[in-house]
Amino acid sequence: MLLQDILAAKRDGQALSSEAIRQFVMAIADDSAGQEQIGAFAMATYLNGMTLDETVALTEATRDSGSVLDYRQLDLPGPILDKHSTGGVGDPVSLILGPWLAACGAHVPMISGRGLGHTGGTLDKLEAIAGYDVTPRRTTFERLLKDVGVAIVGQSGDLAPADKRLYAVRDVTATVASLPLIVASILGKKLAENLDALVMDVKIGNGAFMANDDETRTLAATIADVARRAGTPTTAVLSDMNQTLAESAGNAIEVRECLAIMRGEQRDSRLLTLTRRLAVEALLAGRLATSKEDAERQLEARLASGDVAERFERMVAGLGGPTDLLENAGALPAPAPVIQDVLAEHPGRVARQDVKALGMAVVELGGGRRRAGDAIDHRVGLDAIAAIGQTVDRHTPLARIHAASQADADRLAARVREAFTLGDEGTPPPLVHETLC
Ligand code: URA
Repeated sequence: MLLQDILAAKRDGQALSSEAIRQFVMAIADDSAGQEQIGAFAMATYLNGMTLDETVALTEATRDSGSVLDYRQLDLPGPILDKHSTGGVGDPVSLILGPWLAACGAHVPMISGRGLGHTGGTLDKLEAIAGYDVTPRRTTFERLLKDVGVAIVGQSGDLAPADKRLYAVRDVTATVASLPLIVASILGKKLAENLDALVMDVKIGNGAFMANDDETRTLAATIADVARRAGTPTTAVLSDMNQTLAESAGNAIEVRECLAIMRGEQRDSRLLTLTRRLAVEALLAGRLATSKEDAERQLEARLASGDVAERFERMVAGLGGPTDLLENAGALPAPAPVIQDVLAEHPGRVARQDVKALGMAVVELGGGRRRAGDAIDHRVGLDAIAAIGQTVDRHTPLARIHAASQADADRLAARVREAFTLGDEGTPPPLVHETLC
């Protein structure tokens, strides 16, 4: 079939066959489709949508457009599990969840991304640790997966290459916000990890990738459905992003918060609670636990034994970081030179956080990128972020700014203050809105 015939069918609102979709995606991957054809495909799909069958075909073709990980020669004793998030602010779940699942007997080939827009990125956080290499050799990745049980790394060029090209075209043709294209893009990459089960953490709320809650629910349901039909059992958890998950947002600051949790120094936090909920789903899906209670019991035992922190340390060491991260404060950059409170104008209770604004404040401080390729200052960001329902006053700030200079702190203080609304309501939103499997 000519590519233009496929385009004409999609333009005219017809459902494409799996073969036609696969042919088009392979043409994207091997560069035989021109940029204008890819743009036309993206726009026709954006305007006319896709059926569930077409979305499954697009996802499978994206997954198969490059190499799919193969673990047969590793002879792994446990299931291969992973979690993926649609992106949040103050959301370093992966850093704790990966080693936690590994401590319970899973193998976690966690291929992660960088910050996008107002959201933070797992790789940017890990690169706050001196020496951490997110692009290790294949043999290093495989050794860690087998011996430590977890390797959190970046995407290599041969994983779902069609998505890379299609995403770049979508970005400049106003076609990012298309449900089938988003689903195939996210899952095409994740399913190339060849998992036994996946947990998708779909963020819902004002800081989520999709601002509209109904669209987010549809995204979660479609992801779970498409992934399952593509052969990977998947649980989608709709978790709250109407406030930052962690008490901090910013690369090294979030790593410190994660280390405190893994060391057992911080037992009561939303970050720990959500991470545990996601881990329970993963252990059940991977048949490492027989019930929710069994999963929770295993998770508590592994955390209390220090195994989670130790596995994180071993993964960091295996990827070029220090061998003694848990004891070595110098592996993370020194705190930012300016750390100052952002106080509310009058005492009150936090009723709302504008999470997107807080994420953009971290980017503006230098903790994220305004343009691809920008350098990141791992020291900067926010901590002591007041949660919804929390009382603030002259002594309890809305947040603390960590800035590279006094000028940056002064410039961003008003922006951070305006991101909080004080009021009488202040009822904390649920941490998990819904679980779909
Ligand atoms: N994340 C992705 O990887 N792809 C999309 O299309 C949107 C978010």
